[in-house]
Amino acid sequence: MLEARNLYKLYDTQKNPLEVLKGINLKVGKGEFTAIVGPSGAGKSTLLHILGGLESPTKGEVYFEGINLYNMSEPERAKIRNRKVGFVFQFYHLLPEFNILENVYLAGLVAGFRKRRECQERAKEMLTFLGLQDRLGHRPNELSGGEQQRVAIARALINEPALLLCDEPTGNLDSQMGELVLNYLVDLNRNKGQTIILVTHAEELAEKAQRIVYIKDGTLVRDVPVTKIRA
Ligand SMILES: Nc1ncnc2c1ncn2[C@@H]1O[C@H](COP(=O)(O)OP(=O)(O)O)[C@@H](O)[C@H]1O
Ligand SMILES: [Mg+2]
Repeated sequence: MLEARNLYKLYDTQKNPLEVLKGINLKVGKGEFTAIVGPSGAGKSTLLHILGGLESPTKGEVYFEGINLYNMSEPERAKIRNRKVGFVFQFYHLLPEFNILENVYLAGLVAGFRKRRECQERAKEMLTFLGLQDRLGHRPNELSGGEQQRVAIARALINEPALLLCDEPTGNLDSQMGELVLNYLVDLNRNKGQTIILVTHAEELAEKAQRIVYIKDGTLVRDVPVTKIRA
């Protein structure tokens, strides 16, 4: 479903250029639950953004369902993203001028599969599942970090995306809510065949996945099925 070939990313900062990714090769099959684990600054968020069509690599290609993502115009890529990819960003990126119900259901509307009413109903259901039913009319800045993170999760899932990309999705949740969210991801993967890539610096979270890929200094250093780690 997703294939990265020889990805490089160079940030050309004023003083010294920073090579964040140095030749990443990765294949993720449909229905797989993959975790990418590495220390802070290893390039995890950068890699996830490139895999999801949000940021172009300096070199290399990304194929999503066989299509070269960076060989098309930005509007074409945006169309694929809106319909097929769900992002849970590390720093949420919610729309500050909209309430949380709007933040979630507008993502459904933009994808264009469903009518407004249906998007609103689905958004309400998901926010209720995540314990936010009493906050629907609140704006993101009236919510705690953990609450915003839950909104970001609902928004990413509203279109039942073919590919779900999660960047430290439980980083600001308490352990109980973190567990609920992780179990929800596992359930989506097992029962609905949802393809998931989860990025985290915490290896214990990654063990919910089927496969763990380790990233260090911009290269993948190890790629192991979780059963082998547990054994
Ligand atoms: N837009 C940018 N410009 C310059 N440097 C960046 C930019 N984005 C990220 N970096 C740098 O790239 C490195 C990797 O960042 P990131 O992918 O966010 O790592 P991680 O998610 O693993 O913590 C960091 O050193 C970070 O400071
Ligand atoms: Mg990060």
